[in-house]
Amino acid sequence: MALTRRKLLAGGAAAAGAAVAAGCGGGRTATTATATAQRDARAAEDLSMWAGVRAELPLDPKLRHFAAFLLAPHPRPVQAEIERHRRLLDADPEGYLRAADQRVDVAGAAARYLGGGRDDIALTTSTTMGLAILYRALRLGPGEEILSSVHDHFATDEALRLSGGRVRRVRLYDTRDPARASADEIASRLAQAIGPRTRAVALTWVHSGTGVKLPMDEVAAVVRTAGEHHGAKVLLCVDGVHAFGAEDVRLPGAGIDFFAAGCHKWLMGPRGTGVLWGTPGAWRRAERPLIPSFANASYGAWIEGLVPPPDPPGPAMTPGGFQAYEHRWALPAAFAFQERIGRERAAARLRALAARLKAGLAEVRGVRLVTPRDPGLSAGLVCADIAGVDPGKAVQALAAKRISATVTPYAQRHLRFGCGLAVDEDDVDAAVANVARTARTG
Ligand SMILES: Cc1ncc(COP(=O)(O)O)c(C=O)c1O
Repeated sequence: MALTRRKLLAGGAAAAGAAVAAGCGGGRTATTATATAQRDARAAEDLSMWAGVRAELPLDPKLRHFAAFLLAPHPRPVQAEIERHRRLLDADPEGYLRAADQRVDVAGAAARYLGGGRDDIALTTSTTMGLAILYRALRLGPGEEILSSVHDHFATDEALRLSGGRVRRVRLYDTRDPARASADEIASRLAQAIGPRTRAVALTWVHSGTGVKLPMDEVAAVVRTAGEHHGAKVLLCVDGVHAFGAEDVRLPGAGIDFFAAGCHKWLMGPRGTGVLWGTPGAWRRAERPLIPSFANASYGAWIEGLVPPPDPPGPAMTPGGFQAYEHRWALPAAFAFQERIGRERAAARLRALAARLKAGLAEVRGVRLVTPRDPGLSAGLVCADIAGVDPGKAVQALAAKRISATVTPYAQRHLRFGCGLAVDEDDVDAAVANVARTARTG
C-alpha cells in the first residue's frame, strides 16, 4: 500500500505515529488527563515559600546541593508526568505514540515560555546537540566567518570546529581577573572584533568557566549595529543553558537570533531535553538538518519522492529517530512548574543567593572571587580561588562536610558553586564557613 502524504498526515501508519510523536507535529491541546495530573500536583505543592519549592526536589536532604544545576533533579510534577507517560507508553507503545500529537504540544509549550512561535523551535536532547545542529547548518559564503570568544564551553568550540566554518575568537575580558569584567569593556571588545566578513557571532550567555554573564542587551546592540555598519546582518547565536531558568529569558525582541539550551539544568526539565530556537529570518540562513527529521512535512515529502522542505523550520530541524518520549512529553510540566514558582521571583532568588555567597567569600582571607559581584554580569554560578589550594582539593574538603560543589571543566580551573533553588541561605553560609576553613588550613 502506498502511504501518501495525506495518509501520513492523517496518522495512517506506524511511521506516521512516529513522525507525529516526535513532538514536532501540529497538535495544540493537552488532554484532560494531563490537566488532571497537573492539577493534582498543584494541589499537593506549596510554592509560596522556598522550603516548599525545595520540597518538590527529590534531593538527598543530607547534602548541600551546589552542583544540582549540572544535571537537574526532576521536580515532583515533572517526575509525575514522566512516570505517567512511561506507564502508558509501556502499555501500548505504538498506540500511545500514534496519538501523542493530540495530547501534548512540546514545541508549543516551549514557545509560550520563551516567546515566538512553535515552528521557530527545534526540539533537541541537549545544548550540545542544539549547537551542533546550528553551526553545521549555518550557511557561510567564501571568506565569511563566525566570530566566537575564548570564554565558551567545549560544546560551542567543538561544534564550530566540526562545522568546518571559518572561526575567529575574541577575548571579551581579562581571563586572569574575570571579576573585574565590565559591560563597557565587553561591548567595546566585541564591537572591535566584528569585521566586514563576520556573518555570525557565537557566544555563551553565562560562562560556566568563570560565572561571567554577558550583558546581553549591550551585546545584541553591538551585533546589530556592526551588521548595519558593514551592510550585512550578523546573526547572534547564543548558548543560553546557564541563563535558561536562572534568568527570566524571553526571546523575541532580545536581539538574539539563535538560542540553544538544554532544559535539564537550571530549568529543571526532564534530563535529555533541549531547545534550539531561531527567529524565522535566522532559520532561512540555517536550513540544513544534521539528522533527518521525522516531522510530517519531512517524512511525508520523502514518501512522495520529494526533498523534505525547510519549512516549518523548527520541526524540519528537529532530529528524528525515536526518542525518550516520556522525558520530552514531560517538558511542558517543567515550564508550568517554573511559571507557578514565578520566573522573575526565581531569578531574583538566585541573584540573592549568589550575592550572599559572593559577599561571604569576599570576606574570607585567601579567597579571590572569579565571578563579578555585579548581578548584571553574573547569574547563579559563583566561581572562586583559594590561595594555595587546588580547586579539586577544595571540592573534596567541601564534600567531606556534605557540601556538593564542582571544579570548572576548563583549562583554567576554579572552585564553582551553583546557587539554584536546591540551596538556601543556610547552605550558602555553610559553604562560606567551610571555604574559610579550607583557606585557613590549606
Ligand atoms: C556553557 C555550557 N554549554 C553547554 C554545556 C553542555 O550542556 P548539555 O549537557 O545540555 O549539552 C555545558 C555544561 O554541561 C555548559 O557549561
